[in-house]
This record gives sequence, structure tokens and C-alpha cells, in this order.
Amino acid sequence: MLPDVIWHDSVGSTNDEAQARMSLNDSNPVWIAAAEQTRGKGRLGRHWVSEPGNLYASLTWPSKVEPRRLASLSLVAGLAVRDAVIVTGITAPVQLKWPNDVLVGGRKVSGVLIETLERAGSRVVIVGCGINLLHHPSDTRWPATSLSACGITIEPRQMLENLRSAMHARLRQWADGAGLADIHADWMSVALGRGGRISVEGGRQGVFKGLSEDGALKLTLDDGTEWTHHAGDVEWLEQRVTS
Ligand code: BTN
Repeated sequence: MLPDVIWHDSVGSTNDEAQARMSLNDSNPVWIAAAEQTRGKGRLGRHWVSEPGNLYASLTWPSKVEPRRLASLSLVAGLAVRDAVIVTGITAPVQLKWPNDVLVGGRKVSGVLIETLERAGSRVVIVGCGINLLHHPSDTRWPATSLSACGITIEPRQMLENLRSAMHARLRQWADGAGLADIHADWMSVALGRGGRISVEGGRQGVFKGLSEDGALKLTLDDGTEWTHHAGDVEWLEQRVTS
């Protein structure tokens, strides 16, 4: 069964609403969605512009899976958002940029913020998804776009239905980590810049080789050593957009 949805007209952040709900001891997964956010949160402490027209939604996912395995949920979420975007019938190439940005024609259409909450010995993962449907910011580090700019018209509530189904299917495929090999294979098949040169925070440069078991990015540095990048920005020195 798909998790229930709770819609709000306006919240600070659907991730924060999800956390507040979890502290009420509700142990069922639920989607918290809002027409707008007044304090939308992005990765790495950034602000997420959240005016009406786009989708802002967070899934609460209670889990007994050990933290090391839970990290790969980030890849699961990116794949699910990509699936939900593809269902709209978009014809431009839809790729994933590590860890979970969804790109359409090389431009960012969606971001995912994952937060974990410890509660009485168990964990709740909050998977917050923002998808640009009607508008997108113009002053971002990585160029952004919206589905509307790509010729697709879709309402936030319909997009959430796409996302609910897609996330459900990907979480089943992941199966608490047992399906990780398939998730990795699917993720890499649509990854931006595999085999290309990247630069990671801290100034290291190398070739993007793949993913580690916990979903971190593996690269071979110029001196031939392997490096695993767990968190922080990644820049692509060569970009390849594939279908
Ligand atoms: C990123 O920086 O790319 C991640 C952005 C995540 C934004 C979504 S919108 C719904 C949820 N609530 C938030 O405050 N952030 C996430």
C-alpha cells in the first residue's frame, strides 16, 4: 500500500514538518507535501526557493536498517524522482548527478534532501524532494530548469502521485539494502559523466569510476590512487549528456 499524503497550503519546510510528525510517535510512512515552503532547505545548508507551482514533498521512512546501508537511500531517491519525471512523457535526456540531483538536458530539475532522525533505538529517514514544475531559479551554481520550460505541464498533486508510485517501486527494489546491486547498476546507467573527469570539494581531481557500497562516489586520482567522496560538491570538468 502506498503511504498516505498530508497536504499543507504553506509550511516552513516539509522535512521539518515530517520531523515534527515523527516525534508524535507515528511509525507509518507518510508523505508530507505543501503548496509552498517559507524556509525550504537544500543540501549543504543551502536555501531551496519554494514558491507555489513546484512540488515540495517529504517521505518519512521508519527503518531498522543499519546507518551504513541507509546511506544508499540517497541513490534510491534520485532514481525514484527520475522515474517520476520520465512518466510525464518528457523527451529530453534525464540523468542523475551525484548524489541525487535529477537533470533534464543537463540542467537541474530536482533536488533531494535526506535527513535521519534517531528515535527510541530506531531510525526514521526523511526523504525531501523538490521538483521544479512551473518555475526554477536563475542564479544557481549548476544551471536549473523546470518541466514547464521543457514543454511539460503538470500540477504538484499529479506529480506527487507519480512520485509516490515511483518511490514505492524503488524502495521495493532496494529491499532494505538487499537489492543494492541492482540500484547501483540502474543509477550508473543514467549517471552524468561516468568515466569523465571530475573535481571534488577539497580540490581533488580524477576520473569518476563508480559508487561505493554506501553510495559514495569513487574516483581514480591523477596519481592513480582511489578516492571515495562521501559529502560535498562535485564539479564535472567534462560533461556528457546521454539519453
Ligand atoms: C538540493 O539542495 O538539491 C536538495 C533540495 C531539496 C528540497 C526539498 S523541497 C521538499 C523538502 N523540504 C525541504 O525543505 N527541502 C526538501
